[in-house]
Amino acid sequence: MAPHFRPRRLTTAALTVVLAVLVAACAPAHPNSIFHNHTDFNRDIGHLFDILIWLGSFVFLFVETILLVTLIKFRKREGQPAPVHVHGNTKLEILWTSIPALILAVIAVPTVRTIFKTEAPAAAGALQVTVTGHQWWWEFQYPEYGITTANELYLPIGRTVNFTLKTADVIHSFWIPGLGGKRDLISNHTNYLWFTPDSVGDDVFNGFCAEFCGTSHANMRFKVFTVKPAEFAAWAKHEAEPAVALDTTAAPAAKGAAPALQVAQAAAATESFVSFPRKDIPAYAVPETPIPAGMNFDPAIVGNAAAGQALISAPNSLCLACHTIKGNPMMQSPLGPDLTHVASRSTIAGGLYPNDQQHLELWIKNARVMKPGVIMYTLGKGQIDPATGKTTQFGNLTDQQIADIVAYLQTLK
Ligand code: CUA
Repeated sequence: MAPHFRPRRLTTAALTVVLAVLVAACAPAHPNSIFHNHTDFNRDIGHLFDILIWLGSFVFLFVETILLVTLIKFRKREGQPAPVHVHGNTKLEILWTSIPALILAVIAVPTVRTIFKTEAPAAAGALQVTVTGHQWWWEFQYPEYGITTANELYLPIGRTVNFTLKTADVIHSFWIPGLGGKRDLISNHTNYLWFTPDSVGDDVFNGFCAEFCGTSHANMRFKVFTVKPAEFAAWAKHEAEPAVALDTTAAPAAKGAAPALQVAQAAAATESFVSFPRKDIPAYAVPETPIPAGMNFDPAIVGNAAAGQALISAPNSLCLACHTIKGNPMMQSPLGPDLTHVASRSTIAGGLYPNDQQHLELWIKNARVMKPGVIMYTLGKGQIDPATGKTTQFGNLTDQQIADIVAYLQTLK
């Protein structure tokens, strides 16, 4: 027997779904929503969205009401003669062509105005930040301050920031849902994006690559911290400084790296604002990527920072082929992320893992397992390089050597 049509039951089901969706939308925690209105850019887009959604909803309700009324009023009835066929109605044709045309013309005014406003050059005096997309991480340069950093942006509240968007390889797209974007990073073409972060409260934002760019596209993330102007000034001053060099001559004696490390930490403590406090970073901005199966590192191994600095700066070191550490003349390559103040960042690997001892050790041991497709070599002794399926020929670093390098990197506050 064919199922009996029950309009009331169907309506109840439809209403339940609509209600569930509405209630879900009302939940407060949507950190990556574009509707937080923390910048002029997002407010303008939000305003336009409101106009379009209200007009669209009105048109939808109007059309659906006519449709439903027609369906019910003219439904088939017993003994009813066939309806009279008609062809064309000039008055109606003109009406239903001109009304949508009028609505589109009305919508065009705020739309075009918003496009012109958000595409216009940024105001003079804007903070300039050059963004370069790499497979799969973000390079951020603040030319005014002489800063190059990776995967973390600091922006002062109340000052317009103008992003110059470039790519080192393929097309990426720069997107911080809570603040602005998205806008593409295209080869041989420079794009721009500007906005003014202007509110305090939610001050940590997730950023994403929003254009498919290869294996680890989904692992190309970044963080944005909107801070008070004085905090930004302190951060910028600190980031511009070269790294503090450790006394490597003391390396053999300094088992456990305590003296040199303490000196560096003491120096860092004197800065009023070095980085956004880790303890204050909300859960939605802390990566929870699980460690890939088979990756492990003995937590009992204690690194020696001075020995790590000597290792990383040795002429046969592979680290210096790609990375910069300002203040270390051996480390001057711009290919990979700048490590000058790597310890001040909250994440590593394009926002994929928290920046702590364990993740750094595993990263150096076998980055290619930790993040699919990554260019950085597998450096741990005896590790299988997933790109070749063979034991790596590079680095051949023992766990002790890796722990030493990590101890050194952790001094680079
Ligand atoms: Cu870069 Cu997707």
